[in-house]
Amino acid sequence: MKKLNMIINTNTKKSHINREIYGHFSEHLGRCIYNGIYVGENSEIPNTNGIRNDIIEAFKEIKMPVLRWPGGCFADEYHWKDGIGEKSSRKKMINTHWGGVVEDNSFGTHEFFNLCEEIGCEPYLAGNLGSGTIQELSEWIEYITFDGVSPMAELRRKNGREKPWKLKYLGIGNESWHCGGNMRPEYYADEYRRYQTYCRNFSGNELYKVACGPNANDYKWTEKILSLLTDMHTKAISMHYYTFPKDPSNDWNNKGSALDFTDEEYYATISHTLTIEEFIINHINIMNRLNPTNSIGLIIDEWGCWYDVEPGTNPGFLYQQNTMRDAIVAACNLNIFNSHSDRIVMANIAQAVNVLQALILTDGKKMLKTPTYHVFNLYKTHQNSELVESLCENDIAGTDKYSIPAISQSVSVKDDNLTITIANCSIDEEYKIECKISGFKASSASASIIHADVRAYNDFDSTENVAPTAYEVKLEGEKLTINIPKCSVVSVIVK
Ligand code: AHR
Repeated sequence: MKKLNMIINTNTKKSHINREIYGHFSEHLGRCIYNGIYVGENSEIPNTNGIRNDIIEAFKEIKMPVLRWPGGCFADEYHWKDGIGEKSSRKKMINTHWGGVVEDNSFGTHEFFNLCEEIGCEPYLAGNLGSGTIQELSEWIEYITFDGVSPMAELRRKNGREKPWKLKYLGIGNESWHCGGNMRPEYYADEYRRYQTYCRNFSGNELYKVACGPNANDYKWTEKILSLLTDMHTKAISMHYYTFPKDPSNDWNNKGSALDFTDEEYYATISHTLTIEEFIINHINIMNRLNPTNSIGLIIDEWGCWYDVEPGTNPGFLYQQNTMRDAIVAACNLNIFNSHSDRIVMANIAQAVNVLQALILTDGKKMLKTPTYHVFNLYKTHQNSELVESLCENDIAGTDKYSIPAISQSVSVKDDNLTITIANCSIDEEYKIECKISGFKASSASASIIHADVRAYNDFDSTENVAPTAYEVKLEGEKLTINIPKCSVVSVIVK
């Protein structure tokens, strides 16, 4: 076992970790909403107003802070008025982006906002700028948030909701450089300025408007957008970045399998995951130059692993399994987002249920929590805490082609509790990490671990193959010793 030293200095507070960094994304895609989160009031599966009770409980357990909806690409084809009122008379349409299936609009605005209220999370709407009108978006805001007398507020009341809901986060367009209209940044910026003008703050509600930001390392988009928008219009820009084990531009149908991968592919996946940090830093550098007051935040709107769909499933449904590899990916991403929380205000993993790097998978009545879910559960004490300085010696893991730092870590403090999260990305080596904690009176330490073979996963007949367990760490005065097995994620709470 190799030894690595780590220094934690709680006197150096770096930035506030918004709880929204632990956010989620749910799209009308495959079985994320229908037959996932939403089964309908008449389902035999225990539900509250059509939402699965086991999913509500699971979302509450991880303290889900924010949920983005209704897309994704779907958002720019979504017409919210189709999804209100008596369910049997709601319009049926084709979900052209995702599998060409019938969308019956039985999950709409009321269902979404009631779900968020039930969980206690912030709703984050993705507004339709691609194919919708300004009037449509402006009326949606009125419908949701206006407390007085107006056509939209009356319509809401007629549909059974007297009081308005609160809506903070409003994205205006999704991937406007791609499925949201294939726009040039100059054109998008002008459209954005126009659309956002008519998104009003009603009845004390204050919108936090989010402009479409870049894909991955599209610095030109960031540069242009930021030079054309000001913080008068914009509170944040969004960025999307997906991890593909194999470059999808070579062959979209050969991105790599979720379950069947080589060690080399594992290290490629982690290496491609870690690349996000370079992109984040470069986008932040542009933001620092063009928005030096830091009034515009960066949202990592969509992130996670994107593999080939599970054999035999609808290619448009993006259903994939989730292994210990995904737990390592989630842990590394969340550590990176924490460490840039001076600019990153929110992040949403794609997606919550049954789609891409899902936290939850369902099969009829059955439901399981993936390794990724368990990482969010271990990391939840970082929410709304203060990032503190942590410096860790590192080792190189991986292969000649994909060499990566073995250890990824993050440390934060809140209410006299220190949260230390560490991922050991090596599948070959375990480490003894000796932490020296300064500026903090440590009297006890408890830990949890997610540790399994890199290819281990939960399935519907054995849901606990990968699950957190209590873990022994040693605290002697200011010295904390953590033995971290290969391919594991550990969270330590020091009090
Ligand atoms: O999450 C799946 C899709 O990925 C989203 O709809 C889109 O925004 C992105 O391209």
